[in-house]
Amino acid sequence: MAEKTTNPDAAVTSQAEIDAEISAIHQDYRTQRDAGGVEETNARLNFPPYRSSLLRHPTKSLHHTDPEDIELHSPAFGHRDVSPLEADLTIQHNGEPIGERIIVTGRVLDGDGRPVAGQLVEVWQANAAGRYIHKRDQHPAPLDPNFTGAGRALTGPNGEYSFTTIKPAPYPWKNHHNAWRSAHIHFSLFGTDFTQRIVTQMYFPGDPIFDLDPIYQSITDQAARDRLVATYDHSVSQHEWNTGYRWDIVLSGSNRTWAEEEEEH
Ligand SMILES: [Fe+2]
Repeated sequence: MAEKTTNPDAAVTSQAEIDAEISAIHQDYRTQRDAGGVEETNARLNFPPYRSSLLRHPTKSLHHTDPEDIELHSPAFGHRDVSPLEADLTIQHNGEPIGERIIVTGRVLDGDGRPVAGQLVEVWQANAAGRYIHKRDQHPAPLDPNFTGAGRALTGPNGEYSFTTIKPAPYPWKNHHNAWRSAHIHFSLFGTDFTQRIVTQMYFPGDPIFDLDPIYQSITDQAARDRLVATYDHSVSQHEWNTGYRWDIVLSGSNRTWAEEEEEH
């Protein structure tokens, strides 16, 4: 049985201190926005309550390149390269993974609301106990021998994608004392050109950890945060089999889904 241990190196900042920092930054943002300032749609790269963002956020402006030049070297994915079976994360091993079976489906759209077909969507996530198969994730929650937590799919003609998986649990991280991430699924999308590539996270509605999670809160704008939260969709749930969630992803424009590490220029 796993033993709960106290890590002497664990950050000593309390959740209350983190909450106060988040609240002050958000208040400052709202004040500036209401005074005619810019509406932020992305995460802040330098967001002090998210401690490691201080050391690793980009400090120089992005390197500008010719998008057409990048296209010559960017990866291309044909239908033969991605099997439809790869979109089902519950059939990758000999047995059924433990947890709540879910379908996550939605559409990939461009900034004008047009579906983006034939695009690679990749996902990775923790298991139903909040554990990743990764050597850096050593917190005492069980691995599931029947769940790896990675899948991929190509969008269909209407930009739709669908994954069958297990609902991930929240997991602890070492940002501060008693720090937990809201449950989430990581998404990577390549888009129609290399400059549209986004890496982002999808969340589940009603997560009680939203207010406490500095990564989720590093997006200062409430509307932009809301766009990362899937909706429960009963028409996606199936009798005696799975519950269903719907989440659309916008690659560009003012309703763009927040993406990690990149800013649009
Ligand atoms: Fe994660």
